[in-house]
Amino acid sequence: MMKESIERLEAEALKLELNGRDRKELQKHALSLSHRFYDSIKGNSAYQPFDDLELQSILEHPIDETGADPADLIQNIEEQIFEPGLNVPSGRNFGYIPGSSLESAAIGDYLAAVTNRYASVYSSSPGAVLLEQRVINWMADLIGYGETAGGYLASGGSMANLTAVVTARDSSGLTPNLYPESVVYLTRQTHHCVDRALNIAGLGTCHRRYIEMDERFRMKPVSLRKQIRNDVQAGLTPFMIVASAGSTDTGAVDPMTDIGEIAKKNNTWFHVDAAYGGFFLLTKEGKKPLKGIELSDSVVLDPHKGLFLPYGIGALIVKEVGKLVDTHRYSANYMQSNQINDYVASPADVSPELSKHFRAMRIWLPLKLHGLKAFRSALHEKILLGRYLWQKIGQIKQIETGPAPQLSIFMFRWKPEAGDTNDMNRKLHQEILKAGRVFLSTTEIDGEFFFRVAVLSVRTHLAEADALISVIREKISELER
Ligand SMILES: Cc1ncc(COP(=O)(O)O)c(C=O)c1O
Repeated sequence: MMKESIERLEAEALKLELNGRDRKELQKHALSLSHRFYDSIKGNSAYQPFDDLELQSILEHPIDETGADPADLIQNIEEQIFEPGLNVPSGRNFGYIPGSSLESAAIGDYLAAVTNRYASVYSSSPGAVLLEQRVINWMADLIGYGETAGGYLASGGSMANLTAVVTARDSSGLTPNLYPESVVYLTRQTHHCVDRALNIAGLGTCHRRYIEMDERFRMKPVSLRKQIRNDVQAGLTPFMIVASAGSTDTGAVDPMTDIGEIAKKNNTWFHVDAAYGGFFLLTKEGKKPLKGIELSDSVVLDPHKGLFLPYGIGALIVKEVGKLVDTHRYSANYMQSNQINDYVASPADVSPELSKHFRAMRIWLPLKLHGLKAFRSALHEKILLGRYLWQKIGQIKQIETGPAPQLSIFMFRWKPEAGDTNDMNRKLHQEILKAGRVFLSTTEIDGEFFFRVAVLSVRTHLAEADALISVIREKISELER
């Protein structure tokens, strides 16, 4: 009786494993979608306005007891899910920090998912863990850290920053009773995920000092020094300084050589959020503003920004990997066979995650396949395109640009002769979005509306930059009519 039930269930359960023919069929539809996607991306909109109500039907899609036809499923996905909103990997996406989605990384992800290696524990999947280690060592070398460095491939910059904050907290020996006497130094340009990380890490009661910035939105070392001196005199404990190596809004790179010296003198953890700007270290032009990054205790880099990978990968690199281990290593009864290896820190020992996607594959495959020169050239190209756009947009009548890009981000706004400047810029933004040929996001600085131009898509080249210039010109002249 029981055997019959098991056999009946087995027959149903076997449908979960595709036979050779069905696998090919599903792959055929999925591959044809991805070919269509990549082949048409150059001409497709960067942004497609959408109707909220129409999209609500997604919530009503039944999830049935029986399966559906793969061709129908894939078509459904294409129209309702991939088309509306921001086309992130478009080369005409200049908003937020543009994502890219290299094809080679997507294939790396596929292989990682197919083989599903347990990339968390060395004894389980030594090859996968070593590959992750290889990628982390490469990033540590790029930063200029020494042999003792290590790190964690996280899901993105926010998780990596959170892990850094927790590590800094523990390694500084802070206990909850000391939080109200501790001080963190940042600027108003620091990404909000750092503020959130401080709260999640229980550090909501510590003091946050938003240090004065110069005219290019960079932390002023003089003000930092003075603030720390005042805090120490008041009996407080400086605990962490957070520098931005490319802030999201303005692309500002804080002066890390000076900040590093101040941190050292005051025995303070020095963290750098280089989620956006870090991989510009691959270029000669990027190395200049990023000088001093090697003085830090920890750095966050986002390969899903600067290495053009699809979303889902950030990295935390810590100068002394032992500090990461001290905070994160746990063991469990059921994991006795996970013996500690002196040479390799298993990802599970250096991060808050246990079972996780084999993320190294999506970064290692593109690096090896394309070679570093292609990445260096693409990043150098983005720096030059940023400068080019800053000059050309600044030449448009009635346009006011912010500071020249330190890497590849800058701001601008329209100063029309008539009308409220903020309102007119909001209108201009709506018109640009409606047209959909380019995508720009916006920000507010001291209550003033600004457009941001962020050049980081692997698919942004001269033609895409020129398209941005012509859309701005066109929409301004339409609004002026
Ligand atoms: C400077 C900076 N830090 C952190 C983050 C957060 O990273 P993520 O979105 O990968 O969580 C971002 C995102 O844009 C960023 O630009």
